[in-house]
Amino acid sequence: MKQKVLVMDDDPAILEVLEMRLSAMGFDVTATSDPRTALEAVEATRFDLALLDLRMEPMDGMRVMEALHERQPRLPVLIMTAHGTIQTAVEAVRRGAFDYLTKPFVRDELRSKIARTLATRRWARDRERLLTVGQALASSGVVARVLDAVAQATVEATDADRCVVFQLEQGRLVPMASAGSPPPSWEKLAAAATAAMDKGVPITASGPLEGAEGGTIVAAPLVVQRGPAGALVIETAARIEPVEDDLEILALFSSQAAIAIRNTHDLERLKSGAVAALGRMATQVAHEVKNPLAGLRLYVHHLEQRLAKTGDAEARELAGKIANTVDHLASVVAEITAFGRPLELHREATALHPLLDECLELARARRPTDGVEIVRAYDPACPAAQLDERELRKAFLNLVLNALEALEGAGRLTVATAYSPTAGTVTVTIEDTGPGMTEETLSRAFDLFFTTKPDGTGLGMSIARSVINLHAGELTVSSRLGYGTRVEARLPLEPAADPARAPDAHA
Ligand SMILES: Nc1ncnc2c1ncn2[C@@H]1O[C@H](COP(=O)(O)OP(=O)(O)OP(=O)(O)O)[C@@H](O)[C@H]1O
Ligand SMILES: [Mg+2]
Repeated sequence: MKQKVLVMDDDPAILEVLEMRLSAMGFDVTATSDPRTALEAVEATRFDLALLDLRMEPMDGMRVMEALHERQPRLPVLIMTAHGTIQTAVEAVRRGAFDYLTKPFVRDELRSKIARTLATRRWARDRERLLTVGQALASSGVVARVLDAVAQATVEATDADRCVVFQLEQGRLVPMASAGSPPPSWEKLAAAATAAMDKGVPITASGPLEGAEGGTIVAAPLVVQRGPAGALVIETAARIEPVEDDLEILALFSSQAAIAIRNTHDLERLKSGAVAALGRMATQVAHEVKNPLAGLRLYVHHLEQRLAKTGDAEARELAGKIANTVDHLASVVAEITAFGRPLELHREATALHPLLDECLELARARRPTDGVEIVRAYDPACPAAQLDERELRKAFLNLVLNALEALEGAGRLTVATAYSPTAGTVTVTIEDTGPGMTEETLSRAFDLFFTTKPDGTGLGMSIARSVINLHAGELTVSSRLGYGTRVEARLPLEPAADPARAPDAHA
């Protein structure tokens, strides 16, 4: 889109020349000598620049500028003046003009001053727009998403070539999100980020002088609670001197980003706190229910025996049903209380492949698999390992069940193992071609009691992760909406040795 320039001069000859030259420079020009037409034009559309003659009848350039600024406060104005009236031109700048041009125009002066004005204006963007963006950010969820949005919005708002959001993690600056073209040097951006964090205020750093055109880097610290949590860094190829105003805007924007980060942290803390409290409550309730259930079981047993003696077969059958239901309840309660208590592993030499086969069998008995292609890609080199078979059965069964539930009877389920002798680990992959997870589901899949299923309890993933973690392993999930889900469990083959006594590791 062409940039719009408004030109006003009461000398028709000059007006005509200016219109021609500005059009030749690629601008969309509105030229007039009538102040009313000018004001109406500014009311109707947003201009990028105005060139106003200082001496005009009936309204001089200064008054026109003020009237324009009432309608478009940040419109950059260049005042044109003849040689003798520099003093007035300086006064115009004091009253809000961006710069002035002396008439007759010196060669290239018109072009260079316009270019400078527009370049500077790029940095001085609407505060309102940034505020709106910031508020929108503060209301959204996942941190990574928030930071991506921050980077993207910053690039759009500043016209910078790129924006990188750095976050401080364990004393190291990590680029968390970026937008725009990839930076030629991450180090320089990181250095600017560090400087901004040290100073606590936005800073400007000039890029390398590649030829005459050096770039500009501006960094603003992200201050969360007690200190800087990172920095927002933008870089532009052009040599543009950002003015105080621009740094202020960036500071404003980064503070919005920081608020967004803090809100997300707070929300996550709150969420995990609530989840933990809910978990405690569930185990307490289960605990309370456990003893009465045991009593109930005993009474039913007595009842069954007595009914057997009296020969009332029908009543005995009913008592048997009650006993079964009580048993089922007791096993649910046992599972919940077991989940609340930190587990102890009983490791023994375990062959993974038969264990996985068994989980597949158990799962197939519970879920329809007729239309499901089951692929087993076992690594024959995979040795037996010191693992807790019972706990792992629970973990893998839950993962296979999730995959089958996602497939809903059609698609492919792959169970694979891969042995890494150097790392001393084996990785079990359970992959399905189901519908995949939304970002929201993915971020909450491990939350206790989080479920998207009408009769799910939301325990499967939490159980699987805690079992794998107890084995000092790692459970990761990747999922693409519409393509499927892959869950990977990386397990060390041996329990971690006491690091002080560990033999020298070979690379
Ligand atoms: N393979 C998968 N494909 C798609 N979504 C999945 C998959 N595995 C897990 N999920 C999502 O994660 C959620 C949590 O899974 P989790 O196993 O913890 O609970 P659940 O399956 O809902 O209930 P249950 O306690 O009976 O296992 C599921 O409700 C589902 O939305
Ligand atoms: Mg499940």
